[in-house]
Amino acid sequence: MKDIKILAIETSCDETAAAVVVNGRDVRSNVISTQIDLHTKFGGVVPEIASRMHVEKINVVIREALEKANMTLDDIDVIGVTYGPGLVGALLVGVVAAKAIAFTKNIPLVGVHHIEGHIAANYIQEPTLEPPFLCLVVSGGHTHLVHVADYNTYEIMGKTRDDAAGEAYDKVARAIGLPYPGGPKIDALSKEGNKDAIAFPKAMIGDGYDFSFSGLKSSVLNYVNSAKMKGDELPIADIAASFQNTVVEVLVTKTMALAKEKGITKIALAGGVAANSGLCEGMEAACNKNGFAFYHPSKILCTDNAAMIGSAAYYEYLRGSRADMTLNAVPNLPL
Ligand code: KG4
Ligand code: ZN
Repeated sequence: MKDIKILAIETSCDETAAAVVVNGRDVRSNVISTQIDLHTKFGGVVPEIASRMHVEKINVVIREALEKANMTLDDIDVIGVTYGPGLVGALLVGVVAAKAIAFTKNIPLVGVHHIEGHIAANYIQEPTLEPPFLCLVVSGGHTHLVHVADYNTYEIMGKTRDDAAGEAYDKVARAIGLPYPGGPKIDALSKEGNKDAIAFPKAMIGDGYDFSFSGLKSSVLNYVNSAKMKGDELPIADIAASFQNTVVEVLVTKTMALAKEKGITKIALAGGVAANSGLCEGMEAACNKNGFAFYHPSKILCTDNAAMIGSAAYYEYLRGSRADMTLNAVPNLPL
């Protein structure tokens, strides 16, 4: 079969990204222009700033992705683009760029769901991985336990009822004085703290496969406020370690319980929080104990990137999915 060379574009949040991926698993380039520094001073992503930066960077990033892959648009067989979920103005920049290229060069266009992209990062990391498997998708906007029954066939077995795991990380980080994005900073700080120092609530741990992180977040905020009122010095490393331990225990316990119930023996992680060292270690140890295979993408493939969108676009393309010039950004696109 002829190679399928995909140019993929991702602009759903605060990274402007483009990549060239061949046959869904062979990454020829993966260019990411992050806006994190611009948003840090506001404590989170400012949608208007994100959209404007995407407009400034999109052509540069696409050109660089093609150059690094030693290709031109004439070599590209398919354009893949994230069209949701995400920030509408941010998504639109990628969608419009993808449509413009597809139209002018007469190249087939495929719309990709952002979470489908995160899951597909595992196909790049582990070229032998095939469905079915269970994937815990943990990002700034999502906490989903997904049964990947087949390429493009997803069954959501559980999800958060309030805050996403990454959102909880970012809010807790802010409360203890760490800048956005807080996840990586809490991860690093937790290595210096005692994970058993503070008992935070493990919400819904034995109760089905949905998650709830807002109670945990509030409990940390209450702890911080009461320490401040008493004039105590904040034990930020212990807070970070105890919070991370609680999140990891809930995520691992539920994933293991579901895998056992469904008889699934392959477990994968995806999304920005999948870069978390405590989560990777905890999930790997639990998988080893239960005899499950464990997969997780490298850090650069966990957080937002376009290579993962190129992989997901390939499987969408193979099943015949095609978008036309009416493709629009869908901020709350369901999986
Ligand atoms: O997948 P992603 O790049 O963007 C979304 O689709 O949301 O995820 C970003 C989230 C942020 O909340 C960030 O704090 C979190 O992933 N994150 C981490 C780590 N690295 C990124 N959370 C915990 N530990 C990390 N090492
Ligand atoms: Zn993401």
